[in-house]
Amino acid sequence: MEPKLYRPPPEVRGMTSLDKDAFTQTITVPALQVPTGVLNKVVKSLKKSTIQRPGVHRVVQDKEESSSFRLVLLDPHRVSSAGSFSEAEAEALRSFGVSEELKQYELKLTYDNLKTEEVLEAVLPQGQDVTSAFSRVGHIAHMNLRDHQLPYKNLIEHQRVVQLVKRGDTVFDVFAGVGPFTVPAARVGAKVLANDLNPESHRWLQHNCKLNKVESKVQTFNLDGRDFIRGPLKQELPALLKGESAVHVVMNLPALALEFLDAFRGLLQLEPPCEQNLPTVHCYGFSKDDNPEADMVERASRSLGFPLEDKCSVHFVRNVAPNKDMMCIRFTVPKEVLFCSEAKTGEKQTQIH
Ligand SMILES: C[S@@+](CC[C@H](N)C(=O)[O-])C[C@H]1O[C@@H](n2cnc3c(N)ncnc32)[C@H](O)[C@@H]1O
Repeated sequence: MEPKLYRPPPEVRGMTSLDKDAFTQTITVPALQVPTGVLNKVVKSLKKSTIQRPGVHRVVQDKEESSSFRLVLLDPHRVSSAGSFSEAEAEALRSFGVSEELKQYELKLTYDNLKTEEVLEAVLPQGQDVTSAFSRVGHIAHMNLRDHQLPYKNLIEHQRVVQLVKRGDTVFDVFAGVGPFTVPAARVGAKVLANDLNPESHRWLQHNCKLNKVESKVQTFNLDGRDFIRGPLKQELPALLKGESAVHVVMNLPALALEFLDAFRGLLQLEPPCEQNLPTVHCYGFSKDDNPEADMVERASRSLGFPLEDKCSVHFVRNVAPNKDMMCIRFTVPKEVLFCSEAKTGEKQTQIH
């Protein structure tokens, strides 16, 4: 078994309501001081030895904040001394003129840097087999909780479900998959219109709604996301804007969802403009940018045809590959977008998985 990089603070064990701050911990990791001119090449050559953690940057400023050097953070279980580097890595370091001398770096790990398994293992009573409570099929985590684990149910669900939905709200789940968002939202008492283009996913979505006894709260559709926005969502929205309960639009297709935002332009152009109860969009996206937050805002604004700077929030969801983060941007659809007269007709082709 791999030695553990993160040892959770003992006080998180038994936690039944999520306190993310309690997971924070500072650990010491080895690091190499590297001139900025050869930084990219060094990181590439040390791929196997650098630290790999969701949301942790492998390259950081050194203590002296010198502009000509950076620190490259290494995995302490792979590199414990200068002699730990493989022959090829040592050769690469020599050729770039980088000393193998190791520095120490104090790395702060937070809840966002943890994997689902680590959080579960940290909170469930000691000795419980997390893998028997947890299995993954694609992007869905299946939980088989035994009776004594039920107090942890809410905590576990928190990891998946945006806890913003309340009884009486309406949720449009544009890329619903088999329902990991739809089902919990319906269970808290929201009305959900859930859509997926893939007939297989749609069939399982219906099955899961029945299984969880929420079929009366959920209406399902088997449409392209754009047609769903320009069809059922457009039809329901005018009445919802006159109401008081919140309206959420969830768009979890990280590879493409941002490109569907133009479907909101001019959606209600034939309706009298109003400002109240405009829908909140939660749109997921991948970013490989050095500044993923700014990248998300820029791409969402472009697609929507409206500047979202200072009118949205962006949060990190998880790291999916080295230097590729999944992010979520949240904003209220501006009235200038919904009621504008020029509707963009998106012709982009999209693929289902
Ligand atoms: C990442 S899954 C999201 C599932 C779920 N919402 C979640 O939170 O995990 C994306 C889903 O979008 C569906 N999909 C892909 N392209 C689509 C499109 N153009 N229109 C509607 N659904 C689409 C896929 O079939 C897949 O089930």
